[in-house]
Amino acid sequence: MSNCLCIYYSRTGNTRAVMEKIAELLDAELLEITDGKARKGVVGFVAAGLDAMKKTPEALMPFQTKHPLGQYDEIVLATPVWAGRCSSITRSFLIEHGKELPERVAYVITHMGDSPYEAVYQQMDQYLSAPHVLGLSLQPKATDYHQKVYDFVRALRGEAAEQE
Ligand SMILES: Cc1cc2nc3c(=O)[nH]c(=O)nc-3n(C[C@H](O)[C@H](O)[C@H](O)COP(=O)(O)O)c2cc1C
Repeated sequence: MSNCLCIYYSRTGNTRAVMEKIAELLDAELLEITDGKARKGVVGFVAAGLDAMKKTPEALMPFQTKHPLGQYDEIVLATPVWAGRCSSITRSFLIEHGKELPERVAYVITHMGDSPYEAVYQQMDQYLSAPHVLGLSLQPKATDYHQKVYDFVRALRGEAAEQE
């Protein structure tokens, strides 16, 4: 197993699906984080939108990793885009643990709309000691979805991504 940790929050499964694939390809440890709040259905959607705007997000539920966060060579952190931002759960993680993370942090964001939402990377970088090294912005229904995932994994491994 590699010394890489893949961390994600997912409300409806899109971010989980891509992170399961990335963790498999990287032979990495996989961790799902949550604040314990149920966000199913329309009520959950609205609650999530409100949570994304909150100044102080809910605290995370405790989680366990094989090693302390700072001892991984690399962390891949994934979130759905909520109201043009990272999910409140991801922001909680970054507030609580951002400064403990190693220098190599990569992001995966999933979203419905066409925009790449790269401003989300800058929002997340505020909580790290060093800016992220790589980002993957994914629209789950896009035709180039699988190619982008493979290119991202190859780039993380230091291999050249295939030209489209
Ligand atoms: C509260 C809320 C706000 C959202 N805001 C956006 C948005 O601003 N732009 C966008 O493209 N998608 C938006 N989405 C859609 C999600 O980002 C998208 O469906 C994502 O892939 C969901 O990931 P998940 O299945 O892992 O929860 C929003 C979803 C929710 C629940």
